[in-house]
Amino acid sequence: MKHVSENRDAPAQSPPWAGPVTSSERAFPLDLPGFLTREQHRIHLVGVAGSGMSGIAALLIKLGHTVSGSDKVSTMETDRLQRLGLRFREQHRPEDADTAELIVFSSAIKGDNPILVCARSYGKPVVRRAEALAAIMRGKRGIVIAGMHGKTTTSAMTAHVLREGGLHPCHYVGAEIPILGTNAHWDSRGEYFVAEGDESDGTIALFQPEHTVILNIEEEHLDFYADLGAIEKVFAQLITQTTGKVFYNIDDKNAVRVCRSLARGISYGFADEADYRAIDIRPRDFGSTFRVSGRGQDLGEVVLNVPGQHNVHNALGVIALASELGVTFEKISKSLAKFEHARRRFEIKYHSPRFLLVDDYGHHPTEIRATLKAAKSVGRKRVLTMFQPHRYSRTKALRKEFGRAFDDADRVVVTDVYGSNEAPIPGVTGQMIVDEVVAHGHRGASYEPRLEWAHCAVGNMLESGDLVLSLGAGNIHEQLSALAADLVIAENLKAIVGKNGEVRLYEPLSKHTTLRVGGPAQFWVEPRNEKAFAELIRFCGDENLPLFVMGRGSNLLVRDGGIHGVVVHPCGDEFDKIEVNGAEITAGAGAKLKEVAYAGKAAGIGGLEWLEGIPGTVGGGLRMNAGAMGAQTFENVVRVRYLDTNGEAHTRTRGELEVYYRNFPLLEKNFAVSAVFRGQPAPLEEIVRKLEASQEKRRTSQPAAKSAGCIFKNPDSCPAGKLVDELGLKNSSVGKARVSEVHGNFIVNDGGATAAEMLELIEKIKATALAKRGIELETEVQIVGEPG
Ligand code: EPU
Repeated sequence: MKHVSENRDAPAQSPPWAGPVTSSERAFPLDLPGFLTREQHRIHLVGVAGSGMSGIAALLIKLGHTVSGSDKVSTMETDRLQRLGLRFREQHRPEDADTAELIVFSSAIKGDNPILVCARSYGKPVVRRAEALAAIMRGKRGIVIAGMHGKTTTSAMTAHVLREGGLHPCHYVGAEIPILGTNAHWDSRGEYFVAEGDESDGTIALFQPEHTVILNIEEEHLDFYADLGAIEKVFAQLITQTTGKVFYNIDDKNAVRVCRSLARGISYGFADEADYRAIDIRPRDFGSTFRVSGRGQDLGEVVLNVPGQHNVHNALGVIALASELGVTFEKISKSLAKFEHARRRFEIKYHSPRFLLVDDYGHHPTEIRATLKAAKSVGRKRVLTMFQPHRYSRTKALRKEFGRAFDDADRVVVTDVYGSNEAPIPGVTGQMIVDEVVAHGHRGASYEPRLEWAHCAVGNMLESGDLVLSLGAGNIHEQLSALAADLVIAENLKAIVGKNGEVRLYEPLSKHTTLRVGGPAQFWVEPRNEKAFAELIRFCGDENLPLFVMGRGSNLLVRDGGIHGVVVHPCGDEFDKIEVNGAEITAGAGAKLKEVAYAGKAAGIGGLEWLEGIPGTVGGGLRMNAGAMGAQTFENVVRVRYLDTNGEAHTRTRGELEVYYRNFPLLEKNFAVSAVFRGQPAPLEEIVRKLEASQEKRRTSQPAAKSAGCIFKNPDSCPAGKLVDELGLKNSSVGKARVSEVHGNFIVNDGGATAAEMLELIEKIKATALAKRGIELETEVQIVGEPG
């Protein structure tokens, strides 16, 4: 059954915490405002670690009470409160009710909590958090900020502006806001008390403030309210109990419906008829600038450093209230310009027209949902999330809720649990959350057990227009910082390769090697022309970034830690071009050698057929002086164009070049752009015959499985494949890396092999060849990158 707030006729036997509570326990004998603000008592708070409860604890300590508290978890907040005098216990023990004269409990606490049960049996006064807050506020002139969204920001903004305006307000807001110091503050000098009112359980109707700000009203918390009508009734009650002015958002139709007819209503918003109105709004990613007209007069300009139109509304509510309290506009606008969100609360780490990176410490499902909603409302194309669960106990207890918390995220990468001070609970990992998210129907969730790789997992998904959100109370924000640092470089790289070029972060090189192993490239860059390539070379030189060029990755073994720095993959446009001129074929570094052979066939040029059997690109073939069918690349190459380390282009003819078996030293430091191959006119049938012979040779003597071609150079004494065969090592394996049964010089990936397995197998073969035959095998395949 759904409850409505005015349902006060609940059966007399039901405990007050079991149903809607809008007043204290029936037999409550106390003048609660007097008890809390004019006397000093022993008070116990049940669920004191919650952000709302910790604020009450701070206020009660400041008011001179002896405060104890219990919670099943300890937090930084409980640590801080203990230093202020809180007696804290990480457990709810009934005896804690013994000495307390009053028990305050959080709405998160269930009716069967042992302290509540015990206190009730003693007939001790028990009140909800909101009741205590409402009573404390009665000691001052109350200002309640109410509404479904923006309460924390607006109440913090209000407290800040009034404080800067010299009014010494007390405050109670739902989060740590650095600019305010703490989430709750008692200042005996001031008259006002600014509080965030919580409408979620109807307790907002407990407040009897002097002024109220209504930010917005909409259907929410339908677990508690029957419908919008029930919600509006609670707001109407709050308004009735407000003795002074009611400030309301004129652009929110429900707020208008509730407040329109009030004589003491003051409207704010964008509509022409608003008492306080924003005009000429100029939004930015992180804030906005606008002019304010108040009661028909131009008051001046406001620069706001919190993002979104919703915050312009929030600021207008604050401007209206502060102006009516007599703070000058000059002071208001100055203090608003200084207002900032809490650190790790929607904290912007990086922004550009293409990307927005935001960090938030949200770690409870409700916070996550709210933050994701805010992230979505920013209006970027997609929201990508990296989430680090916080504490094993919470992960386990709230796993279902976590499963439902990520609906507004397009992609979710979950890391392992940040234990805080807890010991791991077997089976409780980030995978548990992913399973719940997936079971809930989300299609974009994945698990990254290694925290230090989280930024890679998310970074590789990045597309222009994305917002990335890091979530969690542990150290996930460091991952977002790492991503932000790399994005700065990635954006420079993107500017170099232009619209047609491609830049990706942390591209898994297993996708780009024929062996299908290899960790990520920190920066994967695809230039489309020589000019961009040259500029990349100069940029990497200037920035001291390692640069590695990769073709088809057919002769490459990339270690599991990937390649640090820039991996350039020249392809497309100029680099894929193949042009025939007489018996000469000019091919870009990104063109496949196979295609050079086929271009030869099409133009009646023979002698290039063997290139059909090389799986690499022109650039890779040049670098390795690749060979097959007894031929090698430089037998056909007549000219090479390359870029030097300064990005200068040069062309060299064959006679000027030093070339060895499987090695072309010029390209150790320089970078191939294109090459001219020469064949000779030949009858088509002859070309076709040779092509078929090459294909046949490959088909019969080489494996079709994923490999990097021959792993070892052929030693002088014996072909490496034959040697491995003779050593009886065919089919020997390490993990999923296996020596091919077809050809001893091929190691194949049976699916999911790691570079580490490949390398171990290579070492085994080398050791055996040396031990048994005295032959030192040398790898032909290029081994690069960092260990995993
Ligand atoms: N052999 C065996 N057992 C084996 C493999 C080979 O006895 O398991 C024997 C063969 O029967 C043959 C000799 O060893 O008598 C040489 O084998 P193959 O003809 O296959 O040539 P290879 O030297 O092993 C070279 C290139 C290959 C190229 C082929 C075909 C090297 C290191 N390898 O292989 O190139 O495809 O010729 O022309 O030069 C590559 O470099 O990645 C590559 C695949």
